[in-house]
Amino acid sequence: MKITVIGAGNVGATVAQRIADKELCEHIVLVDVVEGIPQGKALDMFESAPVHGTDTRIIGTNTYEPTEGSDIVVITAGLARKPGMSRDDLLAKNAEIVGGCAEAAYKQSPNAIFIIVSNPLDVMTYVALKKTGLPRNKVIGMAGVLDSARFRSFIAMELDVSVQDVTAFVLGGHGDSMVPLARYSTVAGIPLPELIPADRLEQILQRTRDGGIEIVNLLKTGSAYYAPGSSAAQMVESIVRNKKRILPCSVWLEGEYGLNDTVVGVPVKLGKNGMEKIIEIKLTDSEAAALKKSSDDVKENIAKVKL
Ligand code: NAI
Ligand code: 2OP
Repeated sequence: MKITVIGAGNVGATVAQRIADKELCEHIVLVDVVEGIPQGKALDMFESAPVHGTDTRIIGTNTYEPTEGSDIVVITAGLARKPGMSRDDLLAKNAEIVGGCAEAAYKQSPNAIFIIVSNPLDVMTYVALKKTGLPRNKVIGMAGVLDSARFRSFIAMELDVSVQDVTAFVLGGHGDSMVPLARYSTVAGIPLPELIPADRLEQILQRTRDGGIEIVNLLKTGSAYYAPGSSAAQMVESIVRNKKRILPCSVWLEGEYGLNDTVVGVPVKLGKNGMEKIIEIKLTDSEAAALKKSSDDVKENIAKVKL
């Protein structure tokens, strides 16, 4: 098992480290355009392996040959959001970067499953899908795991309960119009609306929608990477261990939830074949309208990249 992580910045390095700490594969290849960075980070990470007792080998490179035959490719390359910069500002530049990385990685690893992290996430997943020509089960965007992890952490803080007992459900694109669904989010099986007053719950939902920018405003020099790294690694784990976790991921829709020609977050089963099933649930009229709006926002950006 070999996993390539493209982009050795904050998120890429964190994903690689999480994968190595869990020993999810024998080999990790970290790729970046900046000379020395992937090599240095990979060496530093492998030097921590004896401390952890993990045997995953990690190398860094500026070329794609060493990625040949990867089973999974995680794309984190691109520019990160800065204060005052919307996810949409990143669109054109990151489409060029992600498209190039996806093409180059696909040439070396035509059988790989691709996990996309770069923003704007849903559109970048579409770019990778088009540039590789892979079927939709093999190109999957990471955002819902992060957004629902944020939602879960806020609920655990609010109710002073273990994060382990909190489940959360988030649909839609990774943007301001994402759709956290309170009635499908629970603490030990109890739906949230029974535990948190509606007005307070709405504040927590809004904090979830603003979760990315909250970290950007605090860090000032970049965006979140610990939780994003963990979230991408959880998707990798479900695939390499064929766990068939049901996780919210961004995928190309072909009629599911009444949506076509768009990439948005929906609950999917993740196993050794990548996205093995999309789980459809019945939405209320207002939830369906919110999901449609989120999908329309993504479609607008998909049109801008002209692929
Ligand atoms: P970063 O700036 O720390 O790292 C990005 C890395 O990509 C840099 O090392 C840069 O040299 C590299 N890079 C640029 N062009 C490249 C190319 N053509 N080939 C290979 N590497 C290239 O940024 P960070 O914080 O790691 O974020 C990476 C991306 O992930 C951003 O687009 C960010 O917005 C996105 N992101 C998405 C999340 C999600 O939920 N989907 C969560 C957090 C970040
Ligand atoms: C986040 O949600 C920036 O999309 C990134 O943290």
